Amino acid sequence: MKILVTGGAGYIGSHTCVQLIDKGWQPVILDSLVNSKVSVLDRIESITGHRPPFIKGDVRDADLLSKLLSEHSVEAVIHFAGLKAVGESVAQPLRYYDNNVHGSVVLMQAMQKCAVKTLVFSSSATVYGHAFAPPWNEQVPTAPANPYGRSKLMVDQIMGDMAAADAACSMTSLRYFNPVGAHASGLMGEDPQGTPNNLMPYLAQVAVGRLEALQIYGTDYDTPDGTGVRDYIHVTDLAQGHIAALAYAHGQPGHHVFNLGSGQGHSVMDMLKAFGKACGRELPYTLSPRRPGDVAAYWANPQHARNTLGWHAEKSIDDMCQDTWRWQSSNPNGYL
Ligand code: NAD
Ligand code: UD1
Repeated sequence: MKILVTGGAGYIGSHTCVQLIDKGWQPVILDSLVNSKVSVLDRIESITGHRPPFIKGDVRDADLLSKLLSEHSVEAVIHFAGLKAVGESVAQPLRYYDNNVHGSVVLMQAMQKCAVKTLVFSSSATVYGHAFAPPWNEQVPTAPANPYGRSKLMVDQIMGDMAAADAACSMTSLRYFNPVGAHASGLMGEDPQGTPNNLMPYLAQVAVGRLEALQIYGTDYDTPDGTGVRDYIHVTDLAQGHIAALAYAHGQPGHHVFNLGSGQGHSVMDMLKAFGKACGRELPYTLSPRRPGDVAAYWANPQHARNTLGWHAEKSIDDMCQDTWRWQSSNPNGYL
């Protein structure tokens, strides 16, 4: 099966391409490289022995998309392309709605024109209302708190409308919890531009000496050790979730929504300790006030994915930290 992977040069997309190739499927990557580097293709090739076709372009380019879908005889699309920084989305909402929502509409229009019926989309647990007690299943009411989260929910809703309008459409929204980790080879991993906003890449850069100390945002939460609790999922487990979702959804019309998480919560302190163990030294940290907008604790109920897709996350936080450390220590400045 030939699969268009938008945003396939990015963090989650590149790991998913490796597993698509392992499965014997053929990814075709479309990426504008706004948040990634083309050298990731060398890494995909080193790991798999196969270099997927790559087209540098924007998902909002309707003509390019139609050309791509027909020339490559694409049968399904996995749509990762989008912007993902919450703070930036608050400052630049139109940029986020244009990229994430308009981009998805243009993609679905091209799919409709070329009769490509299967779409798997990168949604997020950030669409859920934060007032609800974890674990969160897919029925937790949605109430995203920022433009980034709203852009994800809007696309989920448009996909639902598309599935209702066309009885042959298969639309799958995958709601990721906190993706972390790296390919076990150390050849691929997360490479954020500028200072990382998220915990794991921040820890990795402290460990490698690019940053001085982790600031722990909040130590007075109502959690076992007072620090925030999240559901961290290894990126290769997440990539495997896409394979399972595509295998299930292709030829299965409707709007399918799945949480992809481990089902377990871990605190900032747990992650700090696990990373220290992985890199062989205690990492420096400071205690800071809560980060505005953060919530104390949430994690997934991933039972629907387990029951329907036969998928579950297998890797531990030690695996996540060891693989991140292998990636970061062998690529201290990320991709060249
Ligand atoms: P990433 O930034 O590494 O990957 C996204 C890729 O899309 C990048 O390579 C970027 O260059 C490309 N891109 C962005 N806008 C584009 C456009 N208009 N046209 C073509 N290419 C474009 O991010 P990621 O962590 O791999 O995330 C992938 C998807 O998963 C995103 O949609 C993100 O919102 C979603 N998601 C990520 C997380 C997370 O924590 N990483 C959590 C939940 C959901
Ligand atoms: C963030 C996004 C969310 C996105 C998710 C994906 C925000 C507000 N939310 O969630 O939309 O879906 O990433 O991974 O940005 N922490 C520190 N010090 C740091 C960084 C983080 O203590 O330097 C703490 C946070 O307070 C939180 C935990 O670590 O308790 C995880 O934070 P982070 O990795 O940023 O993820 P989320 O906030 O869960």
